[in-house]
Amino acid sequence: MSDSRIVIKSAEFLKSAANFRHWPEHALPEAAFAGRSNVGKSSLINCLLNRKKLVRTSSTPGRTQLLNFFTVNDALCFVDLPGYGFAKAPAKVRDGWKVMVEEYLSGRRILKTVVLILDIRRDPGPEDLSLLKKLRDLELEVIPVATKMDKLKRSARASRLKELQSGLNNLAPRPIPFSAETREGKELVWKALLQCLEPGSRESSSSDADPEPQA
Ligand code: GTP
Ligand code: MG
Repeated sequence: MSDSRIVIKSAEFLKSAANFRHWPEHALPEAAFAGRSNVGKSSLINCLLNRKKLVRTSSTPGRTQLLNFFTVNDALCFVDLPGYGFAKAPAKVRDGWKVMVEEYLSGRRILKTVVLILDIRRDPGPEDLSLLKKLRDLELEVIPVATKMDKLKRSARASRLKELQSGLNNLAPRPIPFSAETREGKELVWKALLQCLEPGSRESSSSDADPEPQA
């Protein structure tokens, strides 16, 4: 799996889950996709998988409200997480998403890496930083991706990337420039993913949908 030009032989929606009882029971390494509501998480997944509509995208924020699991080549699993920072959602709903995501991040033993998607036009917000701190505490690998690069003038790219990186307060490596429109950066994101998902890249564990400590 070390070739970054991965051939997508199959990409299938597996299931949605609200809590650990519904997480799929398999041993495939997982990569989760996190970020603000409407930042472009689902579009990034579709782009990586060469699919236009495998994952539902929307110009209305807050569309992804459950954890959505997708298997790729029957070898790995992508998990589309609900976005944070959607001000219009009622506080109770937002709290529910937070619990769902935190339970998954801290309880999923086959989770190998989290792709954090950031809009190149916005500075990282408090929710991005608090997620990064959580990932650091959990010792989870993070792959930051700066999306919507197509919205930027060419002359502004380098300085915006620098600003974005300094806004991450050394909590993450340099973001990979990406656009779901032009597909810029797709190979680099795959390369980073495959490095994290390869067996042995992180302490491997067996399939386990139960976040409770094992005796
Ligand atoms: P939620 O599930 O609601 O949190 O959103 P999301 O993060 O999954 O975002 P989604 O992929 O649905 O994209 C939101 C909007 O941004 C859609 O209208 C996309 O077409 C648009 N979008 C996503 N990525 C890009 C990009 O790279 N460039 C441009 N120009 N638009 C993008
Ligand atoms: Mg989405």
